[in-house]
Amino acid sequence: YGTQQVNEQGNLMIGGVDTVELAKQYGTPLFVYDTALIRKRARGFIDTFEKLGVTAQVAYASKAFACVAVYQLAAQENLSLDVVSGGELFTAIKAGFPAERIHFHGNNKSIAELELAFDTKIGCIVVDNFYEITVIKEIAQRKNQKMNVLLRVTPGVEAHTHDFITTGQADSKFGFDLNNGQADEAFKLVVNDEFINLLGLHCHIGSQIFETEGFSLAAGKVMQKMGVWKQEHGFEATVLNLGGGFGIRYTAEDKPLEPHEYVADMIKTVQAESEKLSLTMPEIWIEPGRSLVGDAGTSLYTIGSQKTVPGLREYIAVDGGMSDNIRPALYDAKYEAVIANKANNAKTSTYTVAGKLCESGDKLIIDAALQKVETGDILAMFCTGAYGYSMASNYNRVPRPAVVFVENGEHQLAIQRESYENLVVNDLPLTLKKGE
Ligand code: LLP
Repeated sequence: YGTQQVNEQGNLMIGGVDTVELAKQYGTPLFVYDTALIRKRARGFIDTFEKLGVTAQVAYASKAFACVAVYQLAAQENLSLDVVSGGELFTAIKAGFPAERIHFHGNNKSIAELELAFDTKIGCIVVDNFYEITVIKEIAQRKNQKMNVLLRVTPGVEAHTHDFITTGQADSKFGFDLNNGQADEAFKLVVNDEFINLLGLHCHIGSQIFETEGFSLAAGKVMQKMGVWKQEHGFEATVLNLGGGFGIRYTAEDKPLEPHEYVADMIKTVQAESEKLSLTMPEIWIEPGRSLVGDAGTSLYTIGSQKTVPGLREYIAVDGGMSDNIRPALYDAKYEAVIANKANNAKTSTYTVAGKLCESGDKLIIDAALQKVETGDILAMFCTGAYGYSMASNYNRVPRPAVVFVENGEHQLAIQRESYENLVVNDLPLTLKKGE
């Protein structure tokens, strides 16, 4: 992946940096991000739109991985930003991300979060539900401040992916149903409001998608609605946000498309529908998360204990697990790995990589093909850049790992490893006296 190589010692290199040295210097578990690969992925999408001559915003869906450093990188690469909480918004502002390129998502944004969006003057709120419309109107009036909005709709398109991570179908907690009148009702509530500037519509059909049909189908349905609103209300949308969800390669079974392949069909649909419905071609916004940072991230672990279940399985245990990557336990997600300090050796062994957390399901890879391992070896697990650190927890009071960015032979700490002191910083001692 990306800038990965193997050096003369047989050690895995990323961004021109020896991962075994990184493990020594920063400790494990460690997330290593290939900065150049994130840049390449970002440019892949941005260039695609440029080549097609389509005005677009590529918004990084930062739920995939959020921290000051990645927000700075996203700003450098001219990405826009999708945030889904006050915490992500706060971090983005801290990182100096241009507020006007921030889009705020979420199905239950709090009043405080929405106020923060107004106060920081972000570019757009993606409105999810009727309650939110009421709250936004109230805040806008109180602050005497206009806000750009998109209406999030569920077009009733089901993407072929894991059930847990499918968000575009009719029975969804997100957005206004496009097909039962709710989207029209929401439209009427915002279109003539003096404080709300309705830019257009948003839809997101799911995650880790490899087919382009779903995106085109959704785009077509949303364009139809735009056509109706133009005819019946004279409203012309200027923005169509088609969400994220572009699949990446975790294992050899995954066959991802190139950015231009993901995007070309949906653009064709939007262009064709615009012409048919005599609409001005809207600006296209997309929100890739995984496909910008997923394969740029590699997790390094140190191998500790081993256990043989005779005739069944060899376990090797690492110093992290579901606390830094819950995806295998939660979604049955598959990964590939290599022994970073023996990267040139043949993969002659099969091991099940277990985490260290107190749960039998805490296995990172079942039956991984690997080099023969010894305790103390460094395991590098690939494509952990999306929804790894961002879904990390302190289960078992395990501190969150450190995160390092590498590029051109240089490495830089982006998130410090949590310390035991960090773990207790919010704990308060009990002051109640023991009862008689
Ligand atoms: N836009 C919206 C409105 C979304 O809900 C999502 C992801 C994205 C964009 C970015 O999707 P991506 O390009 O990253 O697929 N935790 C799960 C994924 C949850 C995705 C939630 N929404 C996982 O680890 O696979």
